[in-house]
Amino acid sequence: MSRVCFVVALVVLLSACELPQGQTKISLPEPESEGAQLVKKFCSDCHAPPSPLVHTAEEWPNVLYRMQERRRMKAYTLMLEQEQEQVLNYLQQFSKS
Ligand code: HEC
Repeated sequence: MSRVCFVVALVVLLSACELPQGQTKISLPEPESEGAQLVKKFCSDCHAPPSPLVHTAEEWPNVLYRMQERRRMKAYTLMLEQEQEQVLNYLQQFSKS
């Protein structure tokens, strides 16, 4: 029985290794654009960078604010005001309608 648990744990661990931090299967629209680069830079420290489609343009400012606060709590480099604006513009441009 414990052997089974060990195997299960191993499989979980190994599959977690398939996606190293910062790498993701989600493809951001216009990946070369500055907005996409900033999302990759600031939104992949804690989870895979989200698709802009997960929120509407109205919802994004609030989510972004929360994520900036999470960066602050972790003492990660904060997004500059201008960077935050670019990220927001990008997310809104491709957001859910
Ligand atoms: C410091 C860590 C951290 C960073 C950096 C971060 N997030 Fe998050 N994010 C979280 C945590 C923790 C959750 C789950 C709890 C929550 O929803 O607040 C989350 C959840 C989310 C969710 C799902 C919940 C929802 O409201 O839809 C979205 C979307 C999201 N983050 C977007 C972003 C974006 C965009 C960025 C980059 C600007 C970002 N995150 C950067 C920690 C982070």
